[in-house]
Amino acid sequence: MNLKLGVNIDHIATLRNARKAAYPDPVDAAAVCLASGANFIVAHLRKDERHITQKDIAQLCKLFPKKIHLECAATDFAEKIVLKYKPYSVCIVPEVPGEVTTTGGLKFTPAVQKRIFSMIEKLHKKHILVSLFVDPVAADLRTAVRLGADMVELCTRQYSEAKTPKQAQKCVQELALSALLAQELGMQVHAGHGLDYHNVLAIADIGGISCMNIGFAIITRSLFAGLPSAVEEMKNLL
Ligand code: PXP
Repeated sequence: MNLKLGVNIDHIATLRNARKAAYPDPVDAAAVCLASGANFIVAHLRKDERHITQKDIAQLCKLFPKKIHLECAATDFAEKIVLKYKPYSVCIVPEVPGEVTTTGGLKFTPAVQKRIFSMIEKLHKKHILVSLFVDPVAADLRTAVRLGADMVELCTRQYSEAKTPKQAQKCVQELALSALLAQELGMQVHAGHGLDYHNVLAIADIGGISCMNIGFAIITRSLFAGLPSAVEEMKNLL
């Protein structure tokens, strides 16, 4: 299967905002990533807009229709912006104020399920595809399909942080079983979080995953290798 690559450009915006400058511009980065083989551009609009801003999202969606995969929480703030700028697809993630990065899949409490169900309904009316970021757990996959998700993104954090080959192997097995189940349930399967040039192959080998969403490893490599090479190298691995 031809695995697709979504490049998360949040950290281009992190660098720009560190200096409160106009550059490096995530919009320029998106153009370079797409020209270098990325299939999608991933950006996480957080409530505090600490990296990607509403203005970035407006420009990205205008310039790259069908290419923007927006990560956001199931909140009124995010829903309003998504419905306004209409990215190609959205991944609903849990968001904890102050966290360094997303730490795991959604926790499907009844209140969370209710909020996500209503958000998916509204996004579908605007023809926006919806993915849910989930841990590789069968019950969560069944919940995702029941809520109307088109896709799930399997969280690879535990895999990427495994301390031993045995632990990593166990995580790969869980991810493989989850990918299979998600497909059987009729959803597309993405994977992401903590993937890099060394650990991505075991996940790429799992059948049924259609897209990998990778940020930190690519953007940090680009500081030394250049963004086109960093993207091309990852794409070639897939
Ligand atoms: N997928 C999701 C849902 C994420 O929240 C993140 C981090 O923003 C990623 C993928 C990319 O993770 P990383 O930057 O570790 O590659």
